[in-house]
Amino acid sequence: MSEPSEKKSNKMWGGRFAEGPDAIMEAINASIGFDRRMARQDIEGSRAHAAMLAAQGIVSEADTEAIRAGLLDVLREIEEGRFEYSTALEDIHMNVEARLTELVGPAAGRLHTARSRNDQVALDFRMWVRDQADAAIDALPRLIGALVAQAEQGADWVMPGFTHLQTAQPVTWGHHMLAYAEMFGRDLGRFEDARRRMNECPLGTAALAGTSFPIDREMTADALGFDRPCANSLDGVSDRDFALEFLSAATICAMHLSRLAEELVIWSSAQFRFVRLSDRWTTGSSIMPQKKNPDAAELLRAKIGRIFGAQAALLMVMKGLPLTYSKDMQEDKEQVFDAADSLMLALAAMTGMVGDMNANREALEAAAASGFSTATDLADWLVRELDLPFREAHHVTGALVKLAEEAGIDLPELSIEQMHAVEPRITEGVFDVLGVRNSVASRTSYGGTAPANVRAQVARWKERLA
Ligand code: ARG
Repeated sequence: MSEPSEKKSNKMWGGRFAEGPDAIMEAINASIGFDRRMARQDIEGSRAHAAMLAAQGIVSEADTEAIRAGLLDVLREIEEGRFEYSTALEDIHMNVEARLTELVGPAAGRLHTARSRNDQVALDFRMWVRDQADAAIDALPRLIGALVAQAEQGADWVMPGFTHLQTAQPVTWGHHMLAYAEMFGRDLGRFEDARRRMNECPLGTAALAGTSFPIDREMTADALGFDRPCANSLDGVSDRDFALEFLSAATICAMHLSRLAEELVIWSSAQFRFVRLSDRWTTGSSIMPQKKNPDAAELLRAKIGRIFGAQAALLMVMKGLPLTYSKDMQEDKEQVFDAADSLMLALAAMTGMVGDMNANREALEAAAASGFSTATDLADWLVRELDLPFREAHHVTGALVKLAEEAGIDLPELSIEQMHAVEPRITEGVFDVLGVRNSVASRTSYGGTAPANVRAQVARWKERLA
């Protein structure tokens, strides 16, 4: 059996309670251990609410002034680490209000007029998530910029393009870098969309039904940077779409980060040697002196799982809840905090790694030329020059690849005589298309890998990022 708490009933809501909560009840009920991260948003929201109460003549100017000044003192205590958090006071909202009461006396008791913790927490959390969306919107262009810089430098560096992680066709380094720029560009759009939709203010929806006080919701919405107050009070207190949308955008972005991290791990291996990661983003081994491990990329790849988990967890919390608020919703925050931290860390680490990494031009080109990567170019040549149907050209090329494979050489090393054994009409002109540089230069279709295309896309991205 757990001990009953020494404390008397909660001073914020304990009017009808004769005894305090069981110690375990206090532990399961308290959110102050994590929701203190919303202190700034809580105080900002309260200041806007107080100003509105005064403007509407609901609370006197004098009381409001005491409240607003007192809230700034509380904020200062929090920021300077002098604030004493109390688990008995459950959450950040009641911790702040209790301290305000100590500082300014009975006037503090008027702050909660026409407000409930239900709209208060909905507001604080929404503002916190909005800040994180802004941080992602700020961070992504820097990552894209690092990719674009890589693309510009290596617009015509040839590398193997893969399907099934098997050499497929030669592509350019710049083209590969810009593929990620496209992904992160869409991620940026998703965060912007989510931010736009979440920017409605729940303050003033009160417990769930609105209030009989003549509040001005436009005024508070405006003061807190929202586009408008949300239109339905039941929805206002119980909607957590904003957090889910943030997590959805974060999840997709995290998946992209993880794919790139995986490529960096593969590419930096001794078997590939496509890139050299800088010392700043790698670690050594305590036993194997030759090692340079891509730890940042690996950790980033692993941390992404926390973000996926957070999205699943919040969906679980929400899916069975009848309208409106249920205490389950207190469990909406911790994982979002963790997911946001992981995302920001991953974005910063990836931006650093991409900015610092050196692609090994020679290794890329050597790898591009191996593995019969220009077989498709050969088939296309047979179609163009000998007017073969593509299926037949594919067949002829397959026979030539087999021949080269058996001889232990690559396609460009076959002699014209060897080729004639398979298709007598082949001419010397075929060697032009077997080189990897010619191969990539020929892929000028819109969105294709040709260096000219890459340079045009680099220019487009630079304009977009400017
Ligand atoms: N700590 C609570 C939460 O995070 C605040 C809202 C409490 N509302 C209530 N009616 N008990 O959800």
